[in-house]
Amino acid sequence: MRILVVGGAGYVGSTSVETLVAAGHHVTVYDNLTTGHRDAVIDGPRLVVGQIGDRGHLEHVLREDRIDAVLHCAAKSLVSESMADPGLYYRNNVAGGVALLEAMKATGVTRLVFSSTAAVYGEPRRVPIAEADRTEPINPYGATKLAFEGAMRWFAASHGFRAISLRYFNVAGATEANGEDHDPETHLIPLVLNVAAGDASHVQIFGQDYPTPDGTCIRDFVHVRDLGNGHLLALEATGEGDPSLEVYNLGSAAGFSVREVVEAARKVTGRAIPARPLKRRVGDPPVLVASSRRARRELGWTPRHSSLEQMLTDAWRWQVAHPRGYDDRAPSEAQRSTGPADSQQRNVAASVAAT
Ligand code: UFG
Repeated sequence: MRILVVGGAGYVGSTSVETLVAAGHHVTVYDNLTTGHRDAVIDGPRLVVGQIGDRGHLEHVLREDRIDAVLHCAAKSLVSESMADPGLYYRNNVAGGVALLEAMKATGVTRLVFSSTAAVYGEPRRVPIAEADRTEPINPYGATKLAFEGAMRWFAASHGFRAISLRYFNVAGATEANGEDHDPETHLIPLVLNVAAGDASHVQIFGQDYPTPDGTCIRDFVHVRDLGNGHLLALEATGEGDPSLEVYNLGSAAGFSVREVVEAARKVTGRAIPARPLKRRVGDPPVLVASSRRARRELGWTPRHSSLEQMLTDAWRWQVAHPRGYDDRAPSEAQRSTGPADSQQRNVAASVAAT
């Protein structure tokens, strides 16, 4: 398959690209590099620098690279930023996304997989959350992802799209080549590992009085490698069947508390990782855990790397190798990694293929 990965230089996009390439697909990456990293695109795929809202440019790339299917991972994805600037989120995640849909329609590309979020559910009434449960987002981030799912549904009904939306929760871990490098960093696991690395004095634990066994929030973590495989299976599933939008949760089905994450990180890193309690963070539901039964049953998806220990081990290895994220690569190394004969890249593809 010839696949366009929009947002393919970001954390989830770049690791999915690795999986798609290892599975033998031809990949083109389209990214504006605002939060993505040029060095996150492994050797092989063509990188096109462009805006998600640039319909003409997207049409050109879809035609030129004779694309069969699109994986859309290009979204603004910070809850607090979305609260501060909803317009940015509606412009990028909804208007930009619709430009992509229209470019696909104009070029006859009707297979689409969308990287959505569990934030579409808002505060769940029950856990584990199932796909048919109420969607009532509590921030513009979740609202804009849900709005785009709505547009996908109508492009399926009116224009014959076969589309899949994958909703997931907390993504963690790394591959050999790619890991988490956000600015600012707000996610628990990278912040905990920053403390382990000596870049911060302690981790803050937001809330100790939740109705959970140890009083801290429980979250569903999924390894970014397992997500990559989920995207691959979903892309393959858009090849047949009637036009529709199908929705699947991807999660590990087991939740871990914030305290459990810190404790596991102490074991994995062998570092003390001091933690200090703080008051609750606004908008944090006590427990967010997904039911992935549908994805397991219908897509054949099985998370293989999503034990807490594995996610932390891989994230820690990447952090140690890239203490300042993608910026810390020596120029010679960065050049080598984009060169055609890069053996490290081939090894990465091989290691993903083996998983
Ligand atoms: N937390 C801390 N200290 C920190 C950072 C986080 O205690 O320094 C806690 C949070 O309060 C929360 C848990 O760790 O209970 C996880 O927080 P993250 O910020 O890592 O992730 P969230 O669960 O808030 O967000 C995730 C995704 C979002 C998505 C959301 C859905 O990253 O993209 O789930 O609710 F929108």
